Amino acid sequence: MRLHAGAEMINLFCVRPSFIHRVSRSVVITLRPMTAADLGAVAGLLLRAFLPLQPRFSLPRSAFLQLCMDDAPAGAWVAEQGRELAGAVFGHNWGRIGWIGPLAVSPRHQRHGIGSRLYRVAVQGLNESGCAIIGLDAEDHVGITGFYQRLALPFSVGTLDGCKAVRPGSSDVDDLLIFSRSQEALFSDEWSALQRSLARPFDLLPYVQRLHQHGLGESAVVMQEGCAKALMILQTGPKLVNDRAAAARLQMCWHAPDMEKRAVFAAAERLLRARYPACRYLYVRTIEDASEWLVEGQCQVIRRGRRWATRTPEFLNDRYVWFWE
Ligand SMILES: CC(C)(COP(=O)(O)OP(=O)(O)OC[C@H]1O[C@@H](n2cnc3c(N)ncnc32)[C@H](O)[C@@H]1OP(=O)(O)O)[C@@H](O)C(=O)NCCC(=O)NCCS
Repeated sequence: MRLHAGAEMINLFCVRPSFIHRVSRSVVITLRPMTAADLGAVAGLLLRAFLPLQPRFSLPRSAFLQLCMDDAPAGAWVAEQGRELAGAVFGHNWGRIGWIGPLAVSPRHQRHGIGSRLYRVAVQGLNESGCAIIGLDAEDHVGITGFYQRLALPFSVGTLDGCKAVRPGSSDVDDLLIFSRSQEALFSDEWSALQRSLARPFDLLPYVQRLHQHGLGESAVVMQEGCAKALMILQTGPKLVNDRAAAARLQMCWHAPDMEKRAVFAAAERLLRARYPACRYLYVRTIEDASEWLVEGQCQVIRRGRRWATRTPEFLNDRYVWFWE
């Protein structure tokens, strides 16, 4: 394929372990799988790409990027022009669901077709590793929306990010939470059973383990009246260099339909007090149609975005507090 970039022509070589795809001549962009040695340069590239959109964005921590890379090596790629890093993409593999992000192209290489190429190669890698549905979250911004529309992602919904103050309180562990680290076997049994009963197309246990390995999170099954009612993954480590140290993200959460929202938030706070007592802020992301979640949880709306997916509107319209990558 041949892509116009102003007066110059760009050649895209896509080097995958299994095939090489030559596109054209002149300027050459190589797409290759990301390695751990790329992560420092990738952090700098993400900063350059996101800073114009998010003035408070700072350098991503390499521990966080390493977690992203380990989550789905097949979805982690870089684009290079000669020895210069031009773009990078990460993927996440959660069973039948694959998630893309972050994806970025350095400002001076944008609008040359590199972002689309990175997106496609990451999707292909995720598909090949078993993900049937691909989704991603992005800033609600005219350029980015145009980019994903151009990629013909058929489904999208608005998202809201909220921030909740976490009050200090007793850090006594109660028997309503089953922790992923200290009660591993019981946690695994209850988690698997609840995951099956909620019929979500996810397999998140490998991700829970990866968070442990990287020291970046804690998960729990929430019990009510002797029954498992909710699954929760908290990411407790800072993602960016200047993130407020005492903050956590409710990265994933689903619950049985009969569980009250208030109880979900109370469980998240108990989990934080027990495992991350210094934490003072909890970030959550939900879809716009479920904004009452943020009201119920006394969260301040801090950002709006858009969630895109390759298929299944039912998957996008889930009203439960959801996740972000
Ligand atoms: C979004 C981003 C990855 C796009 O990468 P890119 O290499 O510039 O994208 P492409 O050249 O492949 O663009 C393909 C098409 O998307 C659309 N598009 C891309 N950027 C656009 C913009 N700023 N405004 C409007 N349309 C845009 C265009 O239709 C474009 O085709 P065209 O150039 O022939 O008109 C890049 O702009 C970026 O890194 N932005 C900052 C970080 C970010 O927002 N990442 C995505 C969020 S997860």
